[in-house]
Amino acid sequence: MRNAPLRCPASAAAGTICVLLGALAGCAQNAAPPGATGPNASERPPAITPVAATAEPSAAAPAAAGGETVAIGACDGGAAVEVPSSLTGQPLADSLMDQWQRDHPEANWVAEQQERHALIPPADNSDLLKGDQGKDHAYGNYTERDILTWARETEKFVAEGSRIFHSADELGSTVAVSCDMCHPHAANTHPETYPKYQTQLGRVALLRDMIDWCIENPVRGEHLDPNGAKMRALEAYIQSQRKGVALNYGKH
Ligand code: HEC
Repeated sequence: MRNAPLRCPASAAAGTICVLLGALAGCAQNAAPPGATGPNASERPPAITPVAATAEPSAAAPAAAGGETVAIGACDGGAAVEVPSSLTGQPLADSLMDQWQRDHPEANWVAEQQERHALIPPADNSDLLKGDQGKDHAYGNYTERDILTWARETEKFVAEGSRIFHSADELGSTVAVSCDMCHPHAANTHPETYPKYQTQLGRVALLRDMIDWCIENPVRGEHLDPNGAKMRALEAYIQSQRKGVALNYGKH
């Protein structure tokens, strides 16, 4: 999963529609490969089919059903995906993820989702109160109250990010989608791999650039001020959920 670059594979040739599904550049073909359906295929949400397909048209194309549709952004200028505007929130996120998983049957998304289930506490700095790490230390004279304040303030900052991450309203979503619908507990966001080159952005991205891109695409919200309170909190939360993972910038 973490190795999958956010771009269409080189094998994506004419007849293959390169669409954005979720927060990534996925390459969807009209039909899911036979092996791509899981044991719970009957419970799957309806697949989303790209519009303007150049291969055989799919009967399941939601646009064909008529009614209002909303476009979910394309990768690298490829075809956008039209979904019924009535499809919002978790069902929309599920449909997008379902299609992405059909295109990436190798990705072990669920196992990674289950990896994290709660906010993770910040580092324990109580050793600064002990012996030569404490009062005699070069940076010494910290009190228990200092240590507590650092921890509480840091936790508060991270919790605020979690609140926004879980709130379609706070994210300004026009389709009632929040990040956790596809990234429970910030799974699969890989903050430790930034900065790295992102093809769909055409440049080296910081974590906040990718967060912003995800807000504008699957979440269909307004771009955030990169130094604004919301972006800072989102970044803090996502990083906090990867505590202990080694930094490895540039990793796909
Ligand atoms: C509809 C599902 C969906 C929603 C909603 C969504 N994402 Fe994603 N996101 C994905 C998928 C799929 C990927 C690609 C994962 C991969 O390639 O391994 C991805 C990739 C990412 C990445 C890059 C991960 C990496 O390995 O570099 C980040 C960061 C990210 N999302 C953050 C967010 C944030 C923040 C939000 C909310 C603002 C969000 N996503 C909303 C599905 C979603």
